[in-house]
Amino acid sequence: MHPINFTMILALATTVTCANFPFEAEVLTDIDIAAFPDIAFGDISSPSISDHDKRPCRAHPSTPDWPTLADWHRINDSLRGVLLKPAPAASACYADCDAEREKCEWLRTEAGQTRFWLNDPINMFTEWTVGNSCGFPRRGGDGEERECRQGGYPVYVVNATTVRHVQIAMNFARRRNLRLVIKNTGHDFVGKSAGFGALSIWTHHLKSFEFVPQYTVGQGDERYTGMAARVGAGLESWEMYVHMEKHNMTLVVPNGYSVGAFGGWTAGGGHSNLASLYGLGSDQVLSFQVVTADGRFVTAELGKNEDLFWASRGGGPVMIGTYGVITSAIIKAYPPIPVTLSSLNFTSANSPDLETFWAAVNTYFHYSSHLCDLGGTTYNYITNINGFYTFTNDFELPSMTAQHTLDALQPLFDTINDMGIPVVNPQPTTSLRSSSGSNGVGMASSSGLWFASRLFPRANWDDEELYVDTMGAVREIVEAGYTFHGIHMTPTEAIAGWPGADSGVNPAFRKTVMYADVWMGDVTAGAPAEEVLRNHARFNGYMDRIRNVTRVGGGAYVNEADVLEPDWQRGFWGKKYKRSLMIKRQRDPWGLFWAPTTVGSEKWTVRTKDEPPTQDGPLCRVER
Ligand SMILES: *[C@@H]1O[C@H](CO)[C@@H](O)[C@H](O)[C@H]1NC(C)=O
Ligand SMILES: *[C@@H]1O[C@H](CO)[C@@H](O)[C@H](O)[C@H]1NC(C)=O
Ligand SMILES: *[C@@H]1O[C@H](CO)[C@@H](O)[C@H](O)[C@H]1NC(C)=O
Ligand SMILES: *[C@@H]1O[C@H](CO)[C@@H](O)[C@H](O)[C@H]1NC(C)=O
Ligand SMILES: *[C@@H]1O[C@H](CO)[C@@H](O)[C@H](O)[C@H]1NC(C)=O
Repeated sequence: MHPINFTMILALATTVTCANFPFEAEVLTDIDIAAFPDIAFGDISSPSISDHDKRPCRAHPSTPDWPTLADWHRINDSLRGVLLKPAPAASACYADCDAEREKCEWLRTEAGQTRFWLNDPINMFTEWTVGNSCGFPRRGGDGEERECRQGGYPVYVVNATTVRHVQIAMNFARRRNLRLVIKNTGHDFVGKSAGFGALSIWTHHLKSFEFVPQYTVGQGDERYTGMAARVGAGLESWEMYVHMEKHNMTLVVPNGYSVGAFGGWTAGGGHSNLASLYGLGSDQVLSFQVVTADGRFVTAELGKNEDLFWASRGGGPVMIGTYGVITSAIIKAYPPIPVTLSSLNFTSANSPDLETFWAAVNTYFHYSSHLCDLGGTTYNYITNINGFYTFTNDFELPSMTAQHTLDALQPLFDTINDMGIPVVNPQPTTSLRSSSGSNGVGMASSSGLWFASRLFPRANWDDEELYVDTMGAVREIVEAGYTFHGIHMTPTEAIAGWPGADSGVNPAFRKTVMYADVWMGDVTAGAPAEEVLRNHARFNGYMDRIRNVTRVGGGAYVNEADVLEPDWQRGFWGKKYKRSLMIKRQRDPWGLFWAPTTVGSEKWTVRTKDEPPTQDGPLCRVER
């Protein structure tokens, strides 16, 4: 055992004084490392010396370099017992005892009415991403027998509640050639919080919060002064509404109540109903606390680790597991903003004909850009079910009175009425969105969503010919049977302000007037790969038409991505990719953080036969 070096401990103690919360003052010390050298820090200047970074694949339970049970016990000791080894929840359905069978029944029927799935260390919102690992067997036992394996679910999980836990997990994974994943709430669509044979850092319980009535950072024009909040990385959107109510202020958070507000949402961009007024989630951040790939805990803000600060605002995501693990942030806060809500719905059945239906949709699309200029955001869905077309839309207009909203919408309703579609401008409702009863309960345990996304440039609205072509592309994909979900918003650079405007986020966000997800539908686990690929190729053909018409200034959104997005580096980050990749290589020379579609991920691949590609297979270097 090394003698205890008090100067070192003092030095560590002084470096953490800028932490936001007490849980961040608990950090890894030399004493811990002396007791278990496998959790030593990495050396970024000579990354190959301390770590085995040349093996073709990451270790997994059937490789000889997988840690022994004794090693896992030691790391659990270092972690003071927060290491979990969770089985997939549905494993209860494969057990041969009454208690488990009852649990299985509860999981199928009632678990969705509780927070069970949200509080599960390995459950993911998009189930196909773990492969055909351990799904619910069909009732009645007809059809194929399914099996229960750990599959794409991580093997071990660190239930992190201190920075020290995060550092230990990271250092151990780096030194022992483990695949590392980071999970916050698991609201991801391509499997970024999944990983075969992985050690997972679970940040769900980092829920500290502090309102700061007056906060100043920067100077001159490069300055923010006003209300702010310190936020732990594990906070969910509904919890933020509780804090907003309590402190009589507004924060920019995701619309989905159970989405993690300061994990991948912020790091990948993050849109919400305040996007046209205050910009993206990533535009709100004034400072991050980060554990970097070498295991060190640092502050990233203007003047300190600026590269990390730049890249982590939009150049993520993965609970920020591209460049580091964020444990907390300081974000901007605003006076309380009521949001006025209204809606517009019509169908092909109440339109004179299909041409008129689409003419009305086009009118709405055009009009929505005007509502964005008023600070509003609009959300539409267009579906085609066997030739029956439905258009539904919510208008969300922050800081506007009901009367102002009614007046602002009237010309749109008049135009659509004049086309022969009867629609009535409803009395708007005004709400400070509230948290009560909406803590994510009812969230499905799993879903098979697979979709692609696109940011449409405002220039397409300004040029008449291009506009007609753009609307034609939208119409074609709906006619082909896919669901279109458009969100009108304008998080421009001017709106992003300081320091938001200069960040790693996709520049297409700054020029957009509409963002859209297009659903290709449910992915059935275990469907033949050729069939899945054939279906995807058809879908992708229509997406290509949209990509073509938005090629200049358009892009895709990494947080709501197609795992097979073509030319994804350019699609998700455009010109920013180059700088983000450079930062990734400097900050993480080990390739410790990896997830599909993230910056630098082209260097590794999951060996799986699944389509769409899942996380159920070893993670290996791509051979050149
Ligand atoms: C880690 O230690 C705690 C406390 O002793 C124990 O409850 C837990 O099961 C251990 N975890 C693993 C994976 O062994
Ligand atoms: C994880 O840690 C939190 C906070 O200590 C605790 O409340 C929770 O029960 C733990 N979860 C599991 C699955 O052990
Ligand atoms: C909340 O803040 C607003 C404006 O900042 C103020 O007008 C209002 O009186 C405050 N409400 C309460 C309950 O403090
Ligand atoms: C439009 O449809 C939504 C739900 O589909 C409904 O909540 C809303 O009240 C409808 N609005 C109008 C004006 O009919
Ligand atoms: C998209 O553009 C490319 C290149 O100009 C062209 O080859 C392709 O056919 C176009 N695809 C569609 C669906 O419009």
